[in-house]
Parts: sequence; structure tokens; C-alpha cells
Amino acid sequence: MTEITKEQIDAQLAACARIAAKLGSGAKAMVDTYGCQQNEADSERIRGYLQAMGCSFTGEPDEADVIVVNTCAVRAHAEQRVLGNVGALVHSKRRHPGQVICICGCMMNEPNVVAKVKGSYRHVDMTFPPQSLWRFPELLEQVLSDGKRLFDANDEDSVAEGIPVVRQGDTKAWVSVMYGCNNFCSYCIVPHVRGRERSRSPEAVLREVGELAAAGYKDITLLGQNVNSYGKDLPGNMDFATLLRKVNGVPGDFLIRFMTSHPKDASPALFDAMAQCEKVAPHLHLPVQAGSDRILKAMNRGYTAAHYLNLVEQLRARIPYVVLTSDIIVGFPGETEEEFRETLRLIEQVRYEALFTFLYSPRPGTPAAELPDPVPAAEKSRWFDELVAAQNAISAEKHAAYVGRELRVLVDGADSDGKHDLTARTAGGRLVHLTGDASAIGTYQMARITGASTWALFGELK
Ligand code: SAH
Ligand code: SF4
Ligand code: F3S
Repeated sequence: MTEITKEQIDAQLAACARIAAKLGSGAKAMVDTYGCQQNEADSERIRGYLQAMGCSFTGEPDEADVIVVNTCAVRAHAEQRVLGNVGALVHSKRRHPGQVICICGCMMNEPNVVAKVKGSYRHVDMTFPPQSLWRFPELLEQVLSDGKRLFDANDEDSVAEGIPVVRQGDTKAWVSVMYGCNNFCSYCIVPHVRGRERSRSPEAVLREVGELAAAGYKDITLLGQNVNSYGKDLPGNMDFATLLRKVNGVPGDFLIRFMTSHPKDASPALFDAMAQCEKVAPHLHLPVQAGSDRILKAMNRGYTAAHYLNLVEQLRARIPYVVLTSDIIVGFPGETEEEFRETLRLIEQVRYEALFTFLYSPRPGTPAAELPDPVPAAEKSRWFDELVAAQNAISAEKHAAYVGRELRVLVDGADSDGKHDLTARTAGGRLVHLTGDASAIGTYQMARITGASTWALFGELK
């Protein structure tokens, strides 16, 4: 792990100033982001650099002088979508030959994908992996000055502070607390493309949260692929529960969320911190992935279904109304119908508010992709539909139980459903469609819940 120095970031900012002079006034940039919140957070830093290059932002490829596509490799479907959209950029490039097209993010750490871009996507000028994000200005300057295509393959893990940020909103913010993953779940590409776990210093995290709170942000999400590993690489006894308590001590009226927690490292110490810190949202996203112990072992998850259920019990004993959500993979190689039914039983036992369900997608280079996978796709999709239907029924029941309650919600925007004025989130993260005045946007309000569906709650401002 390398620490990037202030001098190195200053050199990048100097490159931004030179690029600004070269691009001239009125330059525009487009940033297109795929994948998880980590990528959203990375794109905010790419925008920060682009703004330092004098760019304003557009959503139209035709208007852009610089296009950055931040990619996700987690499932084959995600990759196909990215490649389709990158392919379509050939038209804007034809109309504006001076346009610079950059592809970054997780797919750019897959050598076969980079080779494909090199050979078949000739309109792409530059690629770089997540590890090189901090050097984006330097790389772009090189392309602008010599006009040659550049394919950066830096895989050195680092932590860089001081990169400018242009955030997407003014109520909700992402704060990365660590990067990378060491877990190597057998199906997952993330550790292969994001490198090893490394934590930001608590001081840097607290400084950023302090600035956000002072600027009036109301909902701050601490990010990492496995936040429960936070601090293992730092000196002293730093861990995530301690970090949560410190962030809770930052002055201001805001909620703290975090994701993702890995069940093998989720501990009573974390649940105690959640229960005792008034700013920490009563929500835990705790991906279980499967309900069968044989499959969990084959996935290299490091826990059993019984261990997981015990965690849920311990958490609910401390925070009875805690909102629980999870990720599930259907159709892991060799999963049997009976094993799939164990997943169904688990979700019936836990009764999550919501689930993110995925059909297993083989990722080249991961151990699971080498396993025999005899179950036909049609069978897996039947299981998938059955799981979704079972969860929808649970979500609808859980949401119905909110009707009649009065809750503090954060009003986060204007509604576009045609029937309500506002959208809001409960402290537990549930979506609420509200009637009320637009002046409430960006503030906490009390709402009366009058209805519910599978996906959301409905109500009115008090
Ligand atoms: N770090 C997080 C998840 C990151 S990826 C965690 O450990 O929970 C988000 C989700 O994508 C995972 O939880 C998993 O459910 C899903 N996923 C990852 N790899 C996948 C694959 N190869 N096929 C299908 N789903 C996958
Ligand atoms: Fe992937 Fe597992 Fe790491 Fe999550 S914990 S990013 S699923 S390897
Ligand atoms: Fe995708 Fe990379 Fe996130 S693979 S899910 S963008 S860490």
C-alpha cells in the first residue's frame, strides 16, 4: 500500500490548470457511471478533477469535450451494457474528432476487456483502472499532448487524500472509509479489480464528515466493500465500531449510514455502537447470499446460516425496529433445488424489508467460474422468480405495518409519480411518497404514513 503525498496531488491539480488553459473556456465534460456506490463516489472525484480543468457538465455526448465512462464488472450483464454504450459513443466522436473518450473503473482491470477496447473500440482514447484515478489529470494531459491512445495498467493499491470532489446532491453524500476487498468470495470479481483492503485514516474520514455536516448534508453513507474490516491495516486498535462512535460525535443534525457489512465480521460490538449512537440509522444491509451451508462454504463466505440468524437475533434484541436488507445470489454453480429452498426458508425466517436478488453470473478468473454448473438457465430463472415473489409478499406485509405510524423522514426531492409532491426516506431507509410543500425538500419532517405497497410507503407531511 502506498500513501499518495500532498505534493503528488498538487502536481495533479497543476496538470488540471494546464488542461484548463488548453481546453479553453466553455469546455464540457460528461461522466457516465455504472455499478455500486464506490463507483458513484469515485465519479464525484473525477468530476472534481474535471471541474478543476474548467469543465462544466453535460449529459449529452455530442456536447462533451471529455467523456469519462466509469465501469462495473460485477456481472456479465453489467459489462455488456457498458460495452454497448461505449460502442455508441463512436457517433459523437465522429462528429467531434477532438473529443477525448476515457474509460475507467473496474472493467479496466480485466486484461481481456482492455484488449477488446484496444482492438475493437478505436474511438476510445484512454483507459485506466480504479487504482489510477488519482492520476487522471496526468494521464489526460499526456493524451491531449501527444494524441496517442493510452492504456494504463497500474495495479498499485494506494490511498489518496485531497482530490477535489463535486457531489451529486446537497442532502446525501458518500464517504469512502476504505477501498478494496480481501475476502475473495468465490464468485466475485471485486477483489481482483479493486485490490487489497486499505483504510483511510480516521482523521481524514472525520474531517470529511465534519465538512459535510457543516455544509448542511443530512444523510452521510460510509462506504467500503466490507466496512467491518475497517482499521485492520491501521496502527492502534481502530475498528469500524470505534469509527462509527467517532463519526457520531461530529456536531450536526445528520444520519449516518454504512455499507457493506460482511456477516463473518459483523459483531455485537458493531450492534452496540449502532444502538448507542443516535445518529446511526437503524438499518443494516447484511448480504447473506444463500441459505444453504454447503453453498455458503462453496462461496467462501466464512459463516453458516445458523451464525447469520444468530446475528440477526442479536441485532434485533438491541434495535427492535431495525430495517434489514440483503443480497442473494440464485443459481450458484451446483446449487440444487433443495439448497435453493433453504434460501427461501432463510428469507421467511429473517423477513427482510427488501432484497437485492441476482442470478449467478460467471466471472472469468474467479474460482466459481470453473465449477460445473448443470442447472439449466430456465430452471434458475424459475427459482429467481419464486424468490422475488416470496420477498415481495414479505416486503408488502412489512410496509403495511407502517400504516398509521408517524415517522421522522428526510425529504429528499420532488416526486415524479404524478400523485405525490415529494419523496422522502425514513431513518431506516424506506422510500416514502408524500404530499406536502416543496419548501420541505432537504429538511427533516414528521410524516403520517397512510398507505403502503411492496416498494414504498405513502403519506403526508404533518
Ligand atoms: N461487498 C459486498 C458486495 C459487493 S457486490 C458484499 O460482500 O456483500 C454486490 C452484490 O453483487 C453481492 O453482494 C452479490 O450478491 C452480487 N454479486 C457479486 N458477484 C456476483 C456474480 N458473479 N453473480 C451474481 N451476483 C454477484
Ligand atoms: Fe465480493 Fe465478497 Fe468482497 Fe463482497 S466481500 S466485494 S462479495 S469478494
Ligand atoms: Fe461493480 Fe466495481 Fe462496484 S465491479 S459493484 S463498480 S466495486
